[in-house]
Amino acid sequence: MHDPGGTNLGNVLLSLSDAIDLADPAISMHQLRTAYIAWKLSESLSLSTDQVSNIFIASLLHDAGAITSEEKLALHRFEEVHVQLHCIKGELLLGRLPEFAPLGKYIRHHHTEWAEWQKSKESIATEYVLGAQVILLADLVERLLNRNTHILLQTDSIRSHIQSLRGRVIEGSLVDRFLEISGAEDFWLDIASPRLYSLLFSQGPLRTVEIGNDRLEMISKLFKDLIDFKSPYTATHTSGVAACAEMISRLHGSSDSEIQSLRIASNLHDLGKLAVPSGILNKPGGLSRDEYAIIKSHAYYSYNVINSIGGLHQIAEWAAFHHERLDGSGYPFHVKAPRMSVGSRIIAVSDIFTALIEARPYREGMKKAGMSRIMSQMAKDGYIDFGLVSLVFDEYDSLYAYVTNTQVAAKEFYATRVDNTDIDY
Ligand SMILES: [Fe+2]
Ligand SMILES: [Fe+2]
Ligand SMILES: [Fe+2]
Repeated sequence: MHDPGGTNLGNVLLSLSDAIDLADPAISMHQLRTAYIAWKLSESLSLSTDQVSNIFIASLLHDAGAITSEEKLALHRFEEVHVQLHCIKGELLLGRLPEFAPLGKYIRHHHTEWAEWQKSKESIATEYVLGAQVILLADLVERLLNRNTHILLQTDSIRSHIQSLRGRVIEGSLVDRFLEISGAEDFWLDIASPRLYSLLFSQGPLRTVEIGNDRLEMISKLFKDLIDFKSPYTATHTSGVAACAEMISRLHGSSDSEIQSLRIASNLHDLGKLAVPSGILNKPGGLSRDEYAIIKSHAYYSYNVINSIGGLHQIAEWAAFHHERLDGSGYPFHVKAPRMSVGSRIIAVSDIFTALIEARPYREGMKKAGMSRIMSQMAKDGYIDFGLVSLVFDEYDSLYAYVTNTQVAAKEFYATRVDNTDIDY
C-alpha cells in the first residue's frame, strides 16, 4: 500500500512536469531545463528559500497552459502567434489549486517584457514580477539553445543576445546576474546533461519537502485537466473515471485512504496521453494501424512517469493497467489476473463504463441496456472482473448520476473558460 505520509514534492513535480514535454522529442525536458536555469538565477539573487522554491515550482509548470502538442512546438520554435494564450490558460488552471494559485501570476506573465512592467510602474521588487522575469529569461535561454550543436559552442551568442535585451525585455540587474552565472561552463553542461533530473531531485530547492496524499491529490487534479483538455472529445473523461472509480471502490468497501489513492491513480491514468500527438487524439472516427500503435503507448508512459516517483508504485500500477485484461489480452503490459489488484480492476472497469456513456464524434453515448450487454460479455469472456461488473449494474442509476454530474461540472469549466479563453490582451 502507498504510504500516505511521504512523497517528495520535487520528485512529484519533476516527473509530472517532465510529462508535459513528452509531446515531442524537440521539446523534451523543456520544463526541467527552464527550471534549472531559473533556480540557478534565483539562487544568485539572494532570495528567501520560499521565493526560490516558488520560482522553481512555477518554472516546472510554466507551459502547463499550452494544451496541445502543436502549441507547445510552435512556442518552442518562436512560431506561436498568440503567445499570451498559454499564459492566460496556465494561470487559469493553477488558479484551481489553492496552494499553487499565487504562482498563477508568475505564469500569467512569463512572456511579459520588462518595458510593459515599466509602463505599469511595477518594480522588480514585486515578488511575482521578479518571478515572471526570471522565468522569461530562463525559458528564452532554453529555447535559444540548439539541441543539435554542442552546448559550449553556443554560449557566447546566447549571452550576447540576452545582453542585447537588457532593460527592454528583461530587467537590467537580472541580465547582469545571468551574465555572471553563465560565465561558468558547468552551468551550461548541467542544462544539457541527461542526468539533469537527478541533479534537480537531489540538489534542487524541493529536495527535502515531503507531501501527503492531500497535496498529491491536488497536484494530480492539475494534471487531470492537462490530460483531458488536450482533446475536446475527452475534456471530461478523466473526471468521469475518477468519480466512477471512487464510487465503485466505496461500494466495494475500500477504506477512505485507499479511495483517495484510487482517485489520484484515476486522475493520472491517461497521463501518457501527453505523449500522444493531439492530431491522433482528436481524430474523428477510426484510427489507422500506426495511429493505434501510438495510442497504445500512453498507458506505458503513465506507468513510466508515475513509477519514477518514490512510494507511488501501487498508484502507478492502478493507473497504468486500465487497458489490461484479466486473460492477458490487454495492452501494453499484457499482465494477467494475478497481477491485476482490485484497484487496477476498478479503474479498468471505470474506464470502460465512462467511455461507453460518453458521446464520441462517431457515436452517441450508450444506454444502460447496451452497456450491460457489452460489459457482461466482457466479464463472461474473462476480460474484466465479474463481481465489479455486477456491482456496477446493481447500482447503475446512482453510479450513472454521480459520474455524469461530475462530468457536467467539468464540462462547464472547460466550455466556458478553457475552450473559450478570449484572445483579447
Ligand atoms: Fe511560455
Ligand atoms: Fe516554455
Ligand atoms: Fe487510456
